[in-house]
Amino acid sequence: MEDYILNNDVAMPKVGLGVYKMKSEHEDALVWALNHGYRHIDTAAFYHNEELIASAIRKSGVKRKDLFITTKVWSSDVGKKTNQAFEKSLQKLQTDYIDLYLIHWPVRGYLESWRTMETLYKEGKIRAIGVANFEQNQLEEIMKQRTIKPAVNQIQTNPYLQQHALHEYLVQHQIQHIAWGSLGQGSSQLFQDQLLSELADKYGKTTAQIMLRWSIQLGIAVIPKSVHPDRLQQNLEVFDFQIADGDMNRISTLERNKRGINDPNNKLFLWFLRFIR
Ligand SMILES: NC(=O)c1ccc[n+]([C@@H]2O[C@H](COP(=O)([O-])OP(=O)(O)OC[C@H]3O[C@@H](n4cnc5c(N)ncnc54)[C@H](OP(=O)(O)O)[C@@H]3O)[C@@H](O)[C@H]2O)c1
Repeated sequence: MEDYILNNDVAMPKVGLGVYKMKSEHEDALVWALNHGYRHIDTAAFYHNEELIASAIRKSGVKRKDLFITTKVWSSDVGKKTNQAFEKSLQKLQTDYIDLYLIHWPVRGYLESWRTMETLYKEGKIRAIGVANFEQNQLEEIMKQRTIKPAVNQIQTNPYLQQHALHEYLVQHQIQHIAWGSLGQGSSQLFQDQLLSELADKYGKTTAQIMLRWSIQLGIAVIPKSVHPDRLQQNLEVFDFQIADGDMNRISTLERNKRGINDPNNKLFLWFLRFIR
């Protein structure tokens, strides 16, 4: 597994396992993933599966020190309740530190959360701190007040939502871009896209592998989720081929700026998030 080196010198595997919607019936898949090379796990308090992740890690026998665990503070805890939320995550994950702790969405109170996370970072309880779903203006607010620079921004990114402008900003400020939904959350449109299918045939890979490799070649980390061993395996096997520059350029023409309701520019959506659990 290759790593990205974050702006504080912490190494993060380029491919991680997203676990959104994974439940107890998927524990075998989690254990399988850990036993077949996944070392980076992306969970969140909101996924209500941190205890399941701890159980799968225990069953896999993989040592804590060999893992990179990300979790996130949920929107109802942004602001004053961040410290408490962090302690709860530690307890559920059965660990005494988190590798990467993120503010899940840029809801009201995120500057207060950021200050709490800086303290936890300085106390050695978190190895890297960052944000998710932040737009440039929201990141700029943090950059103005911070004593620690965000290490990452985890944002929805795939060939139909390429995030060029925000990506450039992240590169410029040495903030690692992590893609969520790098497979379009399983969107059949992306999986049936003519160009992506043509490139899959050309490189002898699957459409999923083309999407993941495209991200990695742009310097973006990926955290695809699957509960199927054959797909989990495929999603790791993206380091043995290279998409040619010409083909990378062709993929860049697929941009559609395609988002669902979960849009960080939608103020009503952000307001609503604080009330769901
Ligand atoms: N920060 C945020 O706000 C945020 C938001 C959403 C997600 N995330 C994180 O990002 C992770 C990834 O995003 P996501 O889970 O929403 O979507 P995703 O990884 O883009 O797509 C997952 C979907 O693709 C399918 N799939 C996976 N590998 C495949 C393959 N090789 N071939 C065909 N289908 C495949 C999965 O089905 P099967 O499971 O049936 O294989 C699942 O339906 C999440 O799990 C979560 O950790 C973060």
